[in-house]
Amino acid sequence: MPEAAGTIISTEDTPTPDEFFFVLQEPVKKEQFIEFDTEEGRAVARVTNVRKTNQYFMQAQSVSEYAKDGGSIDDHLPTADWEYLVAEGRILGVYASEENNLIKRPSFPPSPGTDVFIAETDRLSHFLGVDPDGVHIGEVKFQDLQASLNLTKLYQKHLAILAQSGAGKSYLASVMLEELLDRNAEDGQLAVVAIDPHGEYAGFAQDEQYMNRVKVYDDNDISIGVSSLTAGNFNHYFGDVSHAQRREMEKVLSDLRGDGHSTYGLTDLIAAIEERDMKQSTKNVWLDRLNRMQYMNLFKQYDNPSLDNVESGKMLVLDLSDIVNRKKKQIIAAYVTDQLFKARRSGDIPPFFLLVEEAHNFIPEGVSASDAPARSVITRIAREGRKFHACLGLISQRPAKLSQTALSQCNTNIILRVTNPYDLDRIKKGSEGITQDVADSIPGLRTGEAVVVGEAAKYPMFVDVRERRSEEFDTGKDLETVAKEYHAQEQQDEDDLDAFM
Ligand SMILES: Nc1ncnc2c1ncn2[C@@H]1O[C@H](COP(=O)(O)OP(=O)(O)O)[C@@H](O)[C@H]1O
Ligand SMILES: [Mg+2]
Repeated sequence: MPEAAGTIISTEDTPTPDEFFFVLQEPVKKEQFIEFDTEEGRAVARVTNVRKTNQYFMQAQSVSEYAKDGGSIDDHLPTADWEYLVAEGRILGVYASEENNLIKRPSFPPSPGTDVFIAETDRLSHFLGVDPDGVHIGEVKFQDLQASLNLTKLYQKHLAILAQSGAGKSYLASVMLEELLDRNAEDGQLAVVAIDPHGEYAGFAQDEQYMNRVKVYDDNDISIGVSSLTAGNFNHYFGDVSHAQRREMEKVLSDLRGDGHSTYGLTDLIAAIEERDMKQSTKNVWLDRLNRMQYMNLFKQYDNPSLDNVESGKMLVLDLSDIVNRKKKQIIAAYVTDQLFKARRSGDIPPFFLLVEEAHNFIPEGVSASDAPARSVITRIAREGRKFHACLGLISQRPAKLSQTALSQCNTNIILRVTNPYDLDRIKKGSEGITQDVADSIPGLRTGEAVVVGEAAKYPMFVDVRERRSEEFDTGKDLETVAKEYHAQEQQDEDDLDAFM
């Protein structure tokens, strides 16, 4: 029998079925899990706060009196013996029946005087819904328990990683990608596609452990095959096309295909439009758009990557970091997402996980559809993807600017530090799992500390994200390093000049 960590006390308003205070014999930490007996069964609770008190220091006047003449109250009274810790707890659930592990909401308060224990690992594992064969993202905080999340629960109903910049989103995502790439075929693998605006995942292809399973496509490689585009796609990407204009394009495309051109490029299409007999204004509309497309240097004869590159246990990284044109990034995201979803629906590619970094840029809230062509397609996966095992992972530092429709379909949220009140508010509203005490802890999280809520965790789970196995790819130097390097270079130049003189 482990020693009790504390004893429940009675205060004016507690204990209630939800809340209680206890005096500590052993130190417990805020956010730690504890357990104890109640009339309804064994209760599991979370420590929501810990407070130190000391009778001797409660009277400002006497503390001040003793502090006069440079003395201290400690010199006169046994203050240390009177310091004690009081913790506040919130009961999360009660094991109503030990036999069938049934967890209920508590409906009756625990008794004052009840001994409180640090939660036992096995019980907590069951309570939180940890899956030892799942996705290992780290350790449950203050507990000797791996934070291993069930693959289906984590991915099938989509996932969002939300936090302010620098809190560890991309690091956590890399850990999760390692887990996916390191799975055995017998355990079920997913294909992974990462839309990566800052090239943060390109490093996987340089890491010896992962390079054989990861392929990076950057601005030079990525292309869209013109012959796979429909008139609807043209309209979607470039907008403002009338029905009549769209019909003309449909005819041109159908003729091109009918001519046995199984593949054609922009030049062929431009020539076909120029030759065709149609209203000059319609011609101009399409030529204007096609010229803009040519200028983007994206539309070619074939798709690259092609759907053949989407394989189980492998990852494609679309590194968009060299692309300045926002529209081009949007079109790539829209096209690739659409292709993936269609191919998955017809069973032509394996179940996949599509990771979208900086998701607020691709699926922004409150921006016109023509300025955000990727939004409707990504949102569609969010809404319909689960039936087809097309899984979405959104990463964002601005949840308040992210499409609420898409975010609300992400049934697991992993939240790291967020201090901006608007974002925090949006996160709270978006997830019923976030109780006030959990929300209160979010601004104080340190880098690499996360809370998992929703489908993948039965109760909010605070986690220390594990160290990554892959090498971190340096995507940019910090200010201090660059300033030092600049100085060193200046010195070098001076020395060279001196040597020369
Ligand atoms: N779990 C972690 N363990 C160790 N270092 C971490 C962890 N999470 C983040 N970091 C470090 O913190 C910095 C910011 O992390 P990053 O993932 O880039 O943040 P974000 O994507 O949220 O802006 C990086 O230098 C990263 O190495
Ligand atoms: Mg990042």
